[in-house]
Amino acid sequence: MRSSLPEWKALCAHFETLTPCSLQELFQNDAKRASNFSFEAAGWFLDTSKNLWDAQTLELLLALLRACDLEEEREAFFSGERINRTENRSVLHTALRSRSDDRIEVDGENIVPQVHAVLQQMEIFAEAVRAGQRLGYTGVPIRNIVNIGIGGSNLGPAMVTEALASYSDPKLCFRFISNIDATDFSQQTRDLNPAETLFIVASKTFTTQETMTNAHTARDWIIQGLGSTDAIGKHFAALSTNSQAVKEFGIDPEQDMFEFWDWVGGRYSVCSAIGLPLMISIGSSAFAQFLTGFRDMDTHFRESPLERNLPVLLAAMGIWYRNFFNAESQAILPYDQYLQRFPAYLQQTDMESNGKSVNRQGQPVDYATGPIIWGEPGTNGQHAFYQLIHQGTSLIPADFIAFARSRNPLGDHHDKLMANFFSQTEALAFGRSPAALRTAGVPEELIPFKTFSGGKPTNSLLAEELTPHALGALIALYEHKIFVQGVVWDIYSFDQWGVELGKELAHVILPELQAEKEPALGHDASTNALIQRYRNFKG
Ligand code: F6P
Repeated sequence: MRSSLPEWKALCAHFETLTPCSLQELFQNDAKRASNFSFEAAGWFLDTSKNLWDAQTLELLLALLRACDLEEEREAFFSGERINRTENRSVLHTALRSRSDDRIEVDGENIVPQVHAVLQQMEIFAEAVRAGQRLGYTGVPIRNIVNIGIGGSNLGPAMVTEALASYSDPKLCFRFISNIDATDFSQQTRDLNPAETLFIVASKTFTTQETMTNAHTARDWIIQGLGSTDAIGKHFAALSTNSQAVKEFGIDPEQDMFEFWDWVGGRYSVCSAIGLPLMISIGSSAFAQFLTGFRDMDTHFRESPLERNLPVLLAAMGIWYRNFFNAESQAILPYDQYLQRFPAYLQQTDMESNGKSVNRQGQPVDYATGPIIWGEPGTNGQHAFYQLIHQGTSLIPADFIAFARSRNPLGDHHDKLMANFFSQTEALAFGRSPAALRTAGVPEELIPFKTFSGGKPTNSLLAEELTPHALGALIALYEHKIFVQGVVWDIYSFDQWGVELGKELAHVILPELQAEKEPALGHDASTNALIQRYRNFKG
C-alpha cells in the first residue's frame, strides 16, 4: 500500500512540522519564494508560491513520486504499453497529436499514419462545410452543426468549441445535445431549419443509450422536416470506433464516418475525430495549432525534470492537499468567460479517471484518491461560493486561470477582471488579521466576523491569450496531472467501471416503466415504491 512507503510517512512527519507556519511566514522565510515557486512551459506561467508548501515539501513529494516509479510509468504510457489493464488497452491520446513522422506502435503497428489519415479526412470535410460546399438534401448549404454525444463525446467538443468561439466562422451555428431528456433535443433544435442542419453523432461505442436515443430522434426530425428517408445521408456524420453500428444507423462509414480507436479514452478524445465540431468552427489550421499546444505540453511532461514539470507539480500539490490536509475538493476557477465549461470538462476527466477506491492489486486503498472537482468562471463565483472558500470550515485548494489579453478588449473590463483575479488569491493567501481590523477602526464586536484567516492555497495559471495553442496546452496539463496522481495512488485511471451498474439497472427498469400491466417489481422496497408512484403519477 502506498501509505506504507517510507516516503509517504516522511510526508506525514513533515506535515506536522510545516503546518503551524502561515503563508506570511513562508514568504518571510524565503525572499525569492515567488520566483522559486514559479514555473513555465508551453506558453503557461504557473505560480505555486501561494501554497502551503516549502522546498522540503516539494523534495519529499518528488521522492514519493519517484518511489512510485513515476518516470518508468510515464514512459510506459507514452510508448503504448497496455497500461489500462482492466480493459487490456493502451492509452495513447498523446498519439493523436503526434507529428506525421513520429512512430508509435500498438501491437507492432505504427498508428501515426492512421491518425493523420483521419485528420486529413476531417480537414476535407470541415473545410467543405466552412466553404458552404456541404449541401443538404434540398441543395442548400449546411449552416447548423449539431453534435449529439455524451460524456467525453460531448464535454470535450462542447467546451473547446465554446472556448475558441472567438475564432469561429460566424456564419455557422454550433449546438450540443447530450441529455436523454427530450428537452435538450427540443430546445437545441427548435429554431433550426432541417434543410441547413447537419447532425454529428459522436459516440465511441455507438451504443450509448442517451446518444442513440437522441440520434434516432434527430433522424425522425430530418425525415419529417425534409419529407424523405433519402435525406439522412446528407444530414448525418458519425464519429466512432464502431463502423458496423454506424452503417446500421444509415450513415455511410466510407464517406461520413470519422474513425478513432480503442486506445483513445472517451474523456481524453477531444484531439481525435471527436474534435470535428471544433475543426469546423475554427478551421483546420487553427485546429493544428490546438494540437500543437497539446504536443508542446506532452513533450514538456515527458522530457522535463520532475522539479520543473508543470503537470508533475500540480499533481504533487494535489496529493499534498488530498492525502495530508484531507482536502476533499479542488476548485477550478477560470477568469475567462470562454472557459465557463472548463470545470465541467475537468470534472469528467479527473473524477471518472481517479474516482477509484481499489488499488491495482484489487485491494481497498487506505488513503484518499481523486478529489471532487468543481468550479465556475471567475467573478461569478466571487458573488456565490467564494464566501465559503474564504471563511468556511473546509480547505479548498483552487486553481485560478487567466489570460493577459482579452479576446474582447472592451473598455477596461479586462483590467477589472484581472484586478479581481489578483486580489482574490492575495486575500485567500494572506487574509486580514484582527490586528489589521483594529487598526482600521473596526468595532470590536465585528472583528471575529470580519477576520480572514488566510492560508487558503491557490495556484495562478497565466497565459498571454486564449489561443488554440494555449487551450491545447492547458488541457494536456490537466490530463497529465491526472495521470501522475493515478500513478501515486496506484489506481487504474483509464477505466470507468463505476458507470456500469446504473446503466445496467436502467435497462431492467425501463420496461417496468413502460409495461401496460402492473409489472412484478423485484427491487428494494424504496425503488419498488418509487417506480409504482411514478407509474401512478404519469397515469
Ligand atoms: O460515462 C461513461 C462513458 O463511457 C464515458 O467514459 C464516455 O465518455 C461516455 O460514456 C460516452 O461514451 P460513448 O462515446 O461510447 O457514447
